[in-house]
Amino acid sequence: MSTNRIRLAAVQDKVMPVEQAVQLIKNGMVVGMSGFGGAGDAKSLPLALAEHTKTHPLKISFVTGASLGNQIDGKLAAAHALSRRMPFQADPVLRKAINSGEVMFIDQHLSETLDQMRHHMIAKPDIAIISAVAITEEGYIIPTSSVGNSAGFVDMAKQVIVEIDHTLPVTLEGVHDVYAPATRPHRGPIPLIEVNDRIGTIGIKVDPAKIVAIVENHIPDTPALMTDPDADTQIIANHLIHFFEQEVAAGRLPENLGPLQSGVGSIANAVLAGFETSNFKNLEMYSEVLQDCTFHLIDTGKMTFASGCSLTVSPKYAERVIAHMDQYKDKIVLRPQEISNNPELIRRLGIIAINTAIEFDIYGNVNSTHVSGTRMMNGIGGSGDFARNAHISIFVTKSIAKGGAISSVVPMVSHVDHTEHDVDILVTEQGLADLRGLAPRERARVIIDNCVHPDYQAALNDYFDRACAIGGHTPHILREALSWHDKLEQTGHM
Ligand code: COA
Repeated sequence: MSTNRIRLAAVQDKVMPVEQAVQLIKNGMVVGMSGFGGAGDAKSLPLALAEHTKTHPLKISFVTGASLGNQIDGKLAAAHALSRRMPFQADPVLRKAINSGEVMFIDQHLSETLDQMRHHMIAKPDIAIISAVAITEEGYIIPTSSVGNSAGFVDMAKQVIVEIDHTLPVTLEGVHDVYAPATRPHRGPIPLIEVNDRIGTIGIKVDPAKIVAIVENHIPDTPALMTDPDADTQIIANHLIHFFEQEVAAGRLPENLGPLQSGVGSIANAVLAGFETSNFKNLEMYSEVLQDCTFHLIDTGKMTFASGCSLTVSPKYAERVIAHMDQYKDKIVLRPQEISNNPELIRRLGIIAINTAIEFDIYGNVNSTHVSGTRMMNGIGGSGDFARNAHISIFVTKSIAKGGAISSVVPMVSHVDHTEHDVDILVTEQGLADLRGLAPRERARVIIDNCVHPDYQAALNDYFDRACAIGGHTPHILREALSWHDKLEQTGHM
């Protein structure tokens, strides 16, 4: 292995084949691994572990930054290697194992995992598996395309395996900014004032004695699949751009809007693409995942800086961005997710948060995670970190799902991730509901009038009117509140 990737002499003799390193993972261990949104996963080691488990059964408790690429979660789930999984996933095979009750999934705000470990509320990793482009002379592990929870895992794990990723260039060195909050009660404010501040180190400081293995990887990150806007997501984006224009015109937002957070996916893409032709200037992101559209806005001069904890780009942009990383080092930074998603910072920086709902109800409660209240989709991810603390908290979704069999606006959500108190703006292709300063009965009127598909509007009006006749601050007819979901289960249609 080349010494320009492993520059710390003290660990150069730790290089070993992945088949040997995999034997360091023992039954019952808590394994902390790098990876966030399909970026910066360790790959050769977990994939070898899935194979190894077929002949040497074991179960681990598996903690990462967020979801993984290369079907790692699916392969580990199929090999029955997972007893517990946290804090997020997005894999169809693992989803099945979670919903059948085989895997205990802890669906957690992404900013919280490390802090709960640090304060002994949940188990610390026995072993950390960290993807790196290099280990420096000074003993810094330089992460790859995400920082996620890697720094905390290295700090708290008893043993560390480093996976040197040859698919990503060493020019990523200098992109990361690694900072960890102190353990309570001796914690001061996080010294980040501007989105582009650097407050930490260029890599993850490691005690060389902890490194028990170094393996090589030649499997690339799973490329991001960029979903092009369809007619509905484009309309949702247009509603949002119009809303932002009004906010600027009314003097409620500056011309650059303030730092933006946006989930991934086609609506986020459409909104960010819409900024290109808008009058907004000097846009900034303070988000989780930096994707193609972020770099497009930087390249076209609309965005001055983007801060995230992972970098997920399509193959076309990988060529343009990752291969020319030196040109972007003063325009982007990758931070640990406990900093990118930190509630203190989100509130202070005044972030505008845009996330996607599965469904919301007439009072503004949002379900982001559970289909029909029971079946886990992906998890809350960072949506709660941002929504609860944002300057303006926005949720978007199409007004109907499954060809119209489902209304995304219901009398009462079947599961609550974001309460009415944390939601300012709701948008569907039908329109935008601005809930700021409204009482529940006023919110219901605005939501039903603006966001609901015409096929379901009369039924929701009828429900709301009859609920109001019964009374209450937040009127409901309890025996009917979940009847839409019940009907869906019985008949396949709400
Ligand atoms: N009831 C049942 N199913 C619904 C539904 C509803 N009200 N609304 C959407 N769905 C289904 C869709 O039909 C689709 O199903 P399919 O995969 O079988 O086609 C699936 O949910 C995904 O919906 P889609 O419209 O494709 O949206 P998406 O890919 O943007 O995902 C979430 C939407 C909510 C699942 C996704 O954004 C998520 O996991 N969010 C939580 C985490 C998060 O917000 N992360 C970013 C924060 S930083």
